[in-house]
Amino acid sequence: MRTLIKQVLAGSEARQAVTVKAWVRTRRDSKAFSFLELNDGSCLGNLQAVVDAGTPGYDQLPQMTTGASVVVEGNLVPSPAAGQKWELRATRVELVGLADASYPLQKKGHTAEFLRTIAHLRPRSNLYGAVFRVRSRLAFAVHQFFQERDFTYVHTPIITASDCEGAGEMFRVTTLKGNIEEKPETDFFGKRAYLTVSGQLEGETFACALSNIYTFGPTFRAENSNTARHAAEFWMIEPEMAFCDLQGDMDLGEEFIKSMAGYALQHCAEDLGLFSKFIDKGLMARLQFVVERPFVRVPYTEAVEILKQSGRTFEFPVEYGQNLQSEHERFLTEEHFKSPTTVFNYPKEIKPFYMRLNADGKTVTAMDVLVPGIGEVIGGAQREERLDQLLENMKFHKLDPKDYWWYVDLRRYGSVPHAGFGLGFERLLMFLTGVPNIRDVIPFARTPGNAEF
Ligand code: 4AD
Ligand code: MG
Repeated sequence: MRTLIKQVLAGSEARQAVTVKAWVRTRRDSKAFSFLELNDGSCLGNLQAVVDAGTPGYDQLPQMTTGASVVVEGNLVPSPAAGQKWELRATRVELVGLADASYPLQKKGHTAEFLRTIAHLRPRSNLYGAVFRVRSRLAFAVHQFFQERDFTYVHTPIITASDCEGAGEMFRVTTLKGNIEEKPETDFFGKRAYLTVSGQLEGETFACALSNIYTFGPTFRAENSNTARHAAEFWMIEPEMAFCDLQGDMDLGEEFIKSMAGYALQHCAEDLGLFSKFIDKGLMARLQFVVERPFVRVPYTEAVEILKQSGRTFEFPVEYGQNLQSEHERFLTEEHFKSPTTVFNYPKEIKPFYMRLNADGKTVTAMDVLVPGIGEVIGGAQREERLDQLLENMKFHKLDPKDYWWYVDLRRYGSVPHAGFGLGFERLLMFLTGVPNIRDVIPFARTPGNAEF
């Protein structure tokens, strides 16, 4: 039976016979034997196979070039080479698929930009293999975190008719031809429909029935921002808790990030080692810091004062009532507090209708968690549970309660204080790996002008 290289390297006893199916990373020949460096993506490490002249299949060795796929049968023996426990003494080799000289991953040291143009091949490189293994493990860790705490996983719809964030950055879903605005009532769903920007509103309905829920799925934003932290399609994790206020919401968000950092350190050590060597020397120290130290919490008003008194000239001026820009967020978390920072109680003008109005009548119970290198990873809030006030908020944001009748109903029947947040999975991955561009933690990134693959 085939054994994955990860299992071989973790392996047990010498002389054990194994069959490895993998891709050739490099081959080195001498007179009497050849070395094949094999990788099957199950882990970062390669398995070295030693193929003696005369081994069955040896005549195919010249075609076993970088990128070719092969089967190697053999016995594990302790490796004399440093840094590897076992090597494979081949008893039979077989070529499965050729890779000719045009194979683009022959040489090391390609730029991230170039590798995006070959996104179908880049997972075969050490770095991207590591990124996507970590992505997989962290997806599992997300479910484990919530399931262990009795949160119920809810699949909220991908196609929706309601705009959660009210920012008008939605992709339209239509089967109409020609002028799609002419008769929207004749469209497939009988009304205008979009790809969801957030599962929150539907998530709230389930929290108001099952108490603690979370969503984890694809989310879409049609904003035309070509930055290193925006994608048109990304995955969001959205917990929502009934009988919960802003404090409880901040507690959960911070605990979640700490837990993910701890999980990565414990379960992705080999791959993190690669990132800290080649991408971000400070990675391990940063993750340790996140696990061990409490996050800073600061009200928006105070954060604005800190920014104003910083003596910094920012590209975007700092003014009460304006959104914090990425440069402001990063100043707070990287330079001022030197710690992940939770900013809360934002002015109502710059936040969506569903956030709860504070007693000051000016701010709402919003919270954003900012982390070094990225800025915002979490955006959340305690929700407005009071029917009258929710209707007021909708008026203030020029929304028609009729369009949100089912959402408003939650405030009519057994309304409860409740709170939740959204965490961008890719931004979390950037934080945990040190990979500086969101395009490089998504298998096939969707950004303005890019939908190849
Ligand atoms: O702050 P946002 O817009 O909040 C919401 O959508 C709320 N409805 C969430 C909730 O309370 N349930 O988005 C939440 C997070 C951001 O903090 C960011 O991490 C990520 O989603 N995000 C993006 N990630 C990648 N590309 C984009 N274009 C993103 N927009 C938001
Ligand atoms: Mg936000």
